[in-house]
Formats: sequence, C-alpha cells, structure tokens
Amino acid sequence: MFPSTRLRRLRRTATLRDMVRETRLSTRNLIFPIFVQCGRQRRDEIPSMPGQYRWTVDLLPRLVREVRDRGIVGVILFGLPDSKDELGSGAFDPDGIVQQAVKQIKDVVPDLAVIADTCLDEYTSHGHCGILRNGDVDNDATLEVLARAAVSQAAAGADIVAPSDMMDGRVGALRQALDAEGFQQTPVMAYSAKYASSFYGPFRDAADCAPQFGDRRSYQMDPGNRREAMREVALDLQEGADIVMVKPALAYLDVIRDVRANFDVPVAAYNVSGEYSMVKAAAGHGWVDEQTVVLEILTSIARAGADLILTYHACDVAQWLA
Ligand code: PBG
Repeated sequence: MFPSTRLRRLRRTATLRDMVRETRLSTRNLIFPIFVQCGRQRRDEIPSMPGQYRWTVDLLPRLVREVRDRGIVGVILFGLPDSKDELGSGAFDPDGIVQQAVKQIKDVVPDLAVIADTCLDEYTSHGHCGILRNGDVDNDATLEVLARAAVSQAAAGADIVAPSDMMDGRVGALRQALDAEGFQQTPVMAYSAKYASSFYGPFRDAADCAPQFGDRRSYQMDPGNRREAMREVALDLQEGADIVMVKPALAYLDVIRDVRANFDVPVAAYNVSGEYSMVKAAAGHGWVDEQTVVLEILTSIARAGADLILTYHACDVAQWLA
C-alpha cells in the first residue's frame, strides 16, 4: 500500500519501462498485404489508402526483397484480375494473377511466407464471395470453387492458404481438396471470426470488389456477436484450420481476447483497410502522430492476444522498430 507501493518507480526511466514491458511488437509477427494487378511496370497508388499500391507482377521482386530485408515474416496476396465472371474463375486459373505473383515471390525470396487469400469476390462480376443462385450466395456450390482456388494457389507455391469467404464448411472442403491433391503440408489460416464490417470500405475500392447488389451480411458475422465467434473458431478448428483469425482487429479486441483465452492455437488479427485509412487521414491533417498512434494500435492488438498481425503499416513499423 502507498507509500510503500509506488507503481511510478518502474516508470521513472526509459530503461526501467523497457525492462518491465509486457507486450513487444516484432516484425516477425507482422504480415504485409499486397495488391497485385495485371499489366507491366505499374505501381498505382490506391486513392483511399495513401502509401499503399497495386503492383504488377514484374515489380514484385523489388518490393518483396525490401519486405524481407525489413524482417517482416510474410505477405498476403490479393489479386485484381483483368476480367471477371459469374463463377469467379480467375480465382482458380493456374495462370491467374495471384498464382503468377506467388511463383514470382517464391522465386526471389523463398524464405518469405507467402499467404494466398482464398476468396471469390475479387473475381466475380457481381462482387459476392461465392456463387449466386436465385439472388443469394449458394454456400455448398461455392465450396467446390473455393477448394479449386486453394489447390491452385498451393500448386503455385503458396505457403499458406487463407479462406476469407465465410461459407460454412469451407475449411473442411479446402483441407480435403488440398490433401487429395498432395498438399497435406499446406496450412489453412481461416478468417474464422470475420465480421460484416464497414471498415473494409477502402479495400473494396482497392480490389474493386464491392458487391454489385446487397451486402455481405448473410455470410459475414453480425458485429454484435461475441459468443458466436467462439462457435466459428471451434468449427474451423474441427475442420482442420491451423491458424484462426479475427477481423477487423481494433473494433473487435474483445473477440481476439476471447479466442486467445479459449483456444491454444495461433491467433491472427487483421488490422483492416479502414483502420489504416483512418489513421493516415488523421495523421495527414496533423491531428494525431502517425508513428506513435500506429505502434499503440498494433501493441493493443498484440496485447489482446494476437500472435500474428496483418497490417498495411507493416513496412513503416519495421522501419520504426529498427
Ligand atoms: C475478401 C476480403 C476482404 C478483405 C480481405 N479479404 C473484403 C471483404 O470481405 O469485403 C478486407 C481487408 C481489408 O479491409 O483490409 N476477399
């Protein structure tokens, strides 16, 4: 009790604070998302995500060498195909944009973990994450297409596949298909608790994948639900998920905390596009200090229990931590 107990004693100097810090950020826990587009020699800035670009495959070597040199452990890839159709067939094209990018990256930096986002929304003309039937996303018909996409990504050399579609049974369908094709060693990182969030706005701009009608609330989770996230995670693990994810991160720290407390598996959290763009916009006006705010946000995500953080800030953070 005061005055013998004084918590300020260990806050007195930077060294003392450093000694007793409970949560530390490391580039070894950060995953950098990359948008890949068709064409050559182009790097186009995404208007709603200052500092983030869409890259053509031929420019990836320079980028990923830098990512590797900064100590970042992995990247996750999103593709912008040059044409879309009802089925999203670009997602399983052996020569598709993400498949090309995976090969290119594994060629130049084999030690960087390459994660392929497995979903159809970037490839469907209607922008939904699955196959449509009678104006609704048909869960079971979608599974087969997702499984083909995951197998083609693994065949291209992806180290991990990451289904982000929120269909029921997709993890099991992917696991079964991967195993049948000889990819027993390819882990699945499941977007398990993925909420129907407005924080994805800038991403849909970046990947040109906003749904052409309706929204994603019939497959992504309701933001009010915390217990249901535990059911999603438990099912994904039963179906064979190796890593589970909560997304978005900042508005769902309680969910990250719950997943960490209830399951002894690696937990990832996605610090999504809207979270990134809000910080960039405020920092651009001089209203917050970008560096300290970003480090505080990412520390809070790690403190809540995330082992891995997917973040567009990864390259900047690596520089600040160096
Ligand atoms: C779906 C997907 C989305 C994001 C990652 N994968 C968009 C969506 O569900 O609408 C969002 C990522 C972000 O906002 O940074 N393929």
